[in-house]
Amino acid sequence: LLAAVAAATFAFAGPALAEDCQDGEIVIKFSHVVAASGHPKGDAATLLAKRVNEEMNGKACMQVFPNSQLFDDDKVMEALLLGDVQLAAPSLAKFEAYTLKYRLFDLPFLFQDLDAVERFTTSDAGKGLLNAMTDVGFVGLGYWSSGLKQFSANKPLLLPTDAAGLKFRIQTSDVAEAMIKAMGANAQKLAFKEVYGALQTGVVDGQENSWSNTYTQKFFEVQDGISETNHQLLAYLLVTSQEWLDSLEPDVREQFLKITDEVTAAANAAVAGEEAKNRQRILDAGATIRQLTPEQRQAWVEAMKPVWTQFEDDIGQDLIDAAVASNT
Ligand code: LMR
Repeated sequence: LLAAVAAATFAFAGPALAEDCQDGEIVIKFSHVVAASGHPKGDAATLLAKRVNEEMNGKACMQVFPNSQLFDDDKVMEALLLGDVQLAAPSLAKFEAYTLKYRLFDLPFLFQDLDAVERFTTSDAGKGLLNAMTDVGFVGLGYWSSGLKQFSANKPLLLPTDAAGLKFRIQTSDVAEAMIKAMGANAQKLAFKEVYGALQTGVVDGQENSWSNTYTQKFFEVQDGISETNHQLLAYLLVTSQEWLDSLEPDVREQFLKITDEVTAAANAAVAGEEAKNRQRILDAGATIRQLTPEQRQAWVEAMKPVWTQFEDDIGQDLIDAAVASNT
């Protein structure tokens, strides 16, 4: 019976669970929704597990559950508080139930590139935001960048007016909803794992995501093309519960946090390269990528400006100014 249970557990969890934990080790379960490899988050999670399992052997043991196989992003936060998992990395767009400050990261055309994101997230203002949810029991361990987002749809999109009347899948973010409305389009919030099916069956006409998600989820297969809008950041918060972190012995916590810091730095240094590779893989698969002229890009920027005004009170002008300053 035990063997059957073990086999069933393994089949459910997939190869990422191959790490067997020993008695006495602290088990660290990390649940996420993207591909296990070939994706900035999937690869960072694997690297983190590798380092914890090598360097903390006997003390701690990390198991990674990719591809939404354990929890969706809307359930994983609850699971952290219940102690069912110890680590998650939802996108910063998905924390609205806990803080409105992270709406900052969703403002369209806020960051000019990933270097600006790195400058902001390593600044005092950026680091301060890791603690925006301590009142509800969560603590941010680091930001994992994943790239800028591009729009895709079942028709060519060169100007925001091309999107009028279309329905776009969005993450659970009111900023994204406002952005889609500003384009004269309709927004539908859907879990990540439902996006491919929704595009394929025409439940939605389009979506917006990073090159890595568009490639690894094969969204390009069921879209007319992808427009290189670079309109918004996709980045994650590596998050845990304060209670779990506090439960660790000080030396164990220190070693674990040192490893997470180093993996965060390595992951963020690799992300632009990984995004470029996945952009190229989409082209190699025969999909169409449309680049915008400076005039076309400006039309998107103008269309989305009202979104900033709508959310500036939730975020705070000081934070917006600090993020904008990171572009220079
Ligand atoms: C999405 O829902 O589109 C993304 O947040 C998924 C992810 O984790 O990259």
